Amino acid sequence: MKQEQQREHLQLKADLIGNYLIDKMCDAYKQLGIFYAPSGGNVHKVARLIKQKLIDFTPDLFLISDVQPSILLDYQNLILVSSTLGRNTWEMEQRDPWPSFLSQLQRLQLQGRKVAIVGLGDHVSYANNFVDGMGILADIVEKIGGELVGETSTIDYVFNDSRALRDGKFVGLPLDEDYESERTEARIEQWLSHLLPILKGNL
Ligand SMILES: Cc1cc2nc3c(=O)[nH]c(=O)nc-3n(C[C@H](O)[C@H](O)[C@H](O)COP(=O)(O)O)c2cc1C
Repeated sequence: MKQEQQREHLQLKADLIGNYLIDKMCDAYKQLGIFYAPSGGNVHKVARLIKQKLIDFTPDLFLISDVQPSILLDYQNLILVSSTLGRNTWEMEQRDPWPSFLSQLQRLQLQGRKVAIVGLGDHVSYANNFVDGMGILADIVEKIGGELVGETSTIDYVFNDSRALRDGKFVGLPLDEDYESERTEARIEQWLSHLLPILKGNL
């Protein structure tokens, strides 16, 4: 019981403009959490596939609308899986639970956590905004102190522009289940082969 109370303890700190930030830094006692949304489509399928590939590390898998954002603080390593559902207004999209989750996420501090992002998109219909949502998510993760890992070279992708680019690379793993579903599994395997040594210290 005492341990449970300690684990749930949230430390509140005020930032420079007086907002309260939640810090559970000392309590990142679990290895790997995979968080995804929305449910029932390509993101869901990919999140389950990633969990299956990482089964040796017994990751926990959560639909974000089923949990409070503070649960992220329990994990040393995080994999966030999202899609882009709006050409310019991904943040406003009603169908996607990520926007409201992200506004709450901004009250957390993710220092010390490694965060890898997977973004579903469509490189044919949305070539100018390919996996934009991944870039928006990455900006927020960085802003709250998370260490982004798992970048991907653009060499294997055809697109015009993306908000998910950092120094000429994708900030996470882009996947296109609409037009390149046959490549998804190999892309995940290759990505994980680079990612796992990076996460290893924490696994
Ligand atoms: C209304 C709508 C808007 C979309 N906008 C984008 C976009 O801006 N960029 C992109 O790469 N893909 C875009 N897509 C493609 C989706 O991200 C892609 O189909 C994804 O696999 C959907 O995942 P889900 O089935 O889990 O929602 C859009 C799809 C829809 C239906």
